[in-house]
Amino acid sequence: MSTKETTRIAPADGKLGILIPGIGAVSTTFMAGVEAVKRGLGEPIGSLTQLGTVRLGKRTDARTPRIQDFVPLATLDDMVFGGWDIFEDSAYEAAVHAKVLEPTLLEKLKDPLDAIKPMKAVFDPEYIKRINGPNVKDRGSKMDKAEMLMEDIRQFQESTGASRLVMIWCGSTEVFHRSGAVHQTLKDFECGLQKNDPDIAPSQIYAYAALKSGVPYANGAPNLTTDTPALLDLARERQIPVCGKDFKTGQTYMKTLLAPGFKARMLGISGWFSTNILANRDGEVLEDPGSFKSKEETKLSVLEQILQPELYPQLYKDLYHTVRINYYPPRGDSKEGWDNIDIFGWLGYPMQIKIDFLCRDSILAAPLVLDLVLFMDLAQRAGMKGIQEWLSFYFKAPMTAPGLYPEHDIFIQLMKLKNTLRWMRGEDLITHLGLEYYD
Ligand SMILES: NC(=O)c1ccc[n+]([C@@H]2O[C@H](COP(=O)([O-])OP(=O)(O)OC[C@H]3O[C@@H](n4cnc5c(N)ncnc54)[C@H](O)[C@@H]3O)[C@@H](O)[C@H]2O)c1
Repeated sequence: MSTKETTRIAPADGKLGILIPGIGAVSTTFMAGVEAVKRGLGEPIGSLTQLGTVRLGKRTDARTPRIQDFVPLATLDDMVFGGWDIFEDSAYEAAVHAKVLEPTLLEKLKDPLDAIKPMKAVFDPEYIKRINGPNVKDRGSKMDKAEMLMEDIRQFQESTGASRLVMIWCGSTEVFHRSGAVHQTLKDFECGLQKNDPDIAPSQIYAYAALKSGVPYANGAPNLTTDTPALLDLARERQIPVCGKDFKTGQTYMKTLLAPGFKARMLGISGWFSTNILANRDGEVLEDPGSFKSKEETKLSVLEQILQPELYPQLYKDLYHTVRINYYPPRGDSKEGWDNIDIFGWLGYPMQIKIDFLCRDSILAAPLVLDLVLFMDLAQRAGMKGIQEWLSFYFKAPMTAPGLYPEHDIFIQLMKLKNTLRWMRGEDLITHLGLEYYD
């Protein structure tokens, strides 16, 4: 299969400005990592854009360029960073506080990280409980705040000389809420901003400001944000890519590796009990039942959508699936996630699998942030607009067109991602049929 038509992709000239609401554990680990790699102090492990390849043509053609040589991506040297947080700590201070990276490494990166001072955040304690800070825009309507964010974006671009921008949410998880009347049309939404409608979350004000400023928006948390008709219409109307939601890193990453494997072999699952202990600020926010509910929704939906119990009732109809997260300060950013999986095989005979994943949340998330900002910038330059389903690979709850169920199987997601890159460059798509080798 070939599209035979190469998508026109504007070159990645000039600097790429990365704007981040939330200067916390994930975003500082990402920025420090980029600075460390630039200085030869570390390798970008976990990043597809930096290490991955893409096979082109037949298996006998031996054409496997690196992704970064195949599509025009911004380089690490081109990146400039900015962001917002409710705390005044610079990225250096926030990284020290997060305790993800060694102090000796951070000391070597102090200059560039200390120069990143968070701009005043748009914050609402109704949406994020348990934390509060002084560095906030505290006057005006929600529309005024959106305009202040647009002004921040303009000033950032001017002061850094960035030719293009991408925004990625690395802020805390907001409480669970659904799309309401105010989210149905752009007109309703703008009216709601003016009237301070309580149904508009801070993340939606950032997303609105980004889209109005022509900036792609990626959502690393389970927040509703752009999953609303109003903001999706704005993204399409302005021809801007959006993607989300919720980085797929630790336990859910494991789930999306294993569950498709059980299903591929038609093995049944009667129970999947997942529990986590973690600390850091993220863990503290997730102690709040409203924020936990947002996380729970994205974490729970994965199995149901992978296993399709409606198609395989004898295997998955009675699956009992539970996810727990407990705040446990001694562990810091080094989370421990346990999974107990009760599966059954031939004639219904039961078996068990136990997983104990001692993972580092932000170490797993940082390369995803890097790939997402580079691919979102690429998508923008390739004229792709609205939901970027090809970036599902990075998310627990991939955004899809209304009425479409998301694809969670990581290997299908990877194939979709690489085929999108092939399609962009007018290369044959790879179907894995392979009959031609036996003709
Ligand atoms: N680390 C992972 O593996 C992972 C995986 C999936 C999703 N996430 C999500 O990524 C996000 C960031 O995680 P983290 O570990 O860096 O958390 P963190 O608590 O260390 O950092 C989040 C930062 O956002 C700030 N913040 C909160 N509301 C804000 C607002 N309205 N505007 C600007 N800043 C705001 C907080 O002050 C905090 O500094 C969380 O929502 C988390 O659930 C992380």
